[in-house]
Amino acid sequence: MMQEKWALITGASSGIGKDFSRELAKQGWNVILVARREDRLLELKVEIEKSFSVKADYVKADLARIEDRERVITYFEKYPISFLVNNAGLQSRGKFDEKSFQESNHLIEVNVTALVYLARAAIIQFKKRGTTSYLLNVGSLNSYIATGDSAIYSGTKAFVKSFSLALSEELNGTNIHCTCFCPGGTESEILNGTGVQLASGGEKYMMKSSLVARIGIESAFQQKHTAIPGFLNKFNVLLSKVLPEKWMTAISSRMLRSMLLSSK
Ligand SMILES: NC(=O)c1ccc[n+]([C@@H]2O[C@H](COP(=O)([O-])OP(=O)(O)OC[C@H]3O[C@@H](n4cnc5c(N)ncnc54)[C@H](OP(=O)(O)O)[C@@H]3O)[C@@H](O)[C@H]2O)c1
Repeated sequence: MMQEKWALITGASSGIGKDFSRELAKQGWNVILVARREDRLLELKVEIEKSFSVKADYVKADLARIEDRERVITYFEKYPISFLVNNAGLQSRGKFDEKSFQESNHLIEVNVTALVYLARAAIIQFKKRGTTSYLLNVGSLNSYIATGDSAIYSGTKAFVKSFSLALSEELNGTNIHCTCFCPGGTESEILNGTGVQLASGGEKYMMKSSLVARIGIESAFQQKHTAIPGFLNKFNVLLSKVLPEKWMTAISSRMLRSMLLSSK
């Protein structure tokens, strides 16, 4: 009998994570959806089970909380999961010193600590099972190019890339493939609650989350170590490899400031 395929996706209640979940379900994967907003998770579970012939379950969890992270990793024993999408993430905009330490630390807990915690639990189980398995860590263009007014976010995303590349090397020749997927501007809810919104006309620079998610899943199956969706994003990363880092940071910070307006 063919083994059932299960994937666990964090940050599945909106944006790219919702589309990662749909894309995997479309490709025959049963999915476990993780986020805080239970109504959204339930809605997506119903949608997925209705649209694709797969099973869906969900875990309401706040990944900034240790006890919730512990509850999420029990699913690696409950289900034969062989795909983890470490997608949950938060953005924050503004001067570093004007943010409380709690706000910055919350971002680090979700973008870094939870990602590391889940990656470790997944790898241990993936090794035990020995079947081909995938770990998709979501970084950002900020993994390559730091931007002002996003100091903590840029730092967390640089960590995700460096951590993922090191893991890819450690896992070379095993049954596990690790990919760091680095989108640029994508339509989602990421700016909600940051005090800024896209200026009018900014939408044309945003990629559709469904396309971004499709490219992300494809890059994991192609066993890429890193992947960047979209020509413009790839071009920016290429530029960052030839221009001095400080220029790239200055240019991209200025561009981003001109694309964002205060929403307060
Ligand atoms: N959109 C972009 O332009 C862009 C660009 C580069 C990289 N990314 C990365 O893509 C990933 C997905 O972001 P998105 O753009 O799709 O944003 P989004 O629409 O805001 O989705 C973020 C997801 O993370 C979940 N999340 C946030 N805090 C959480 C917590 N404490 N515990 C559990 N789940 C939590 C949210 O669910 P709940 O609120 O229901 O918990 C939501 O499902 C992030 O890692 C982000 O950094 C996005």
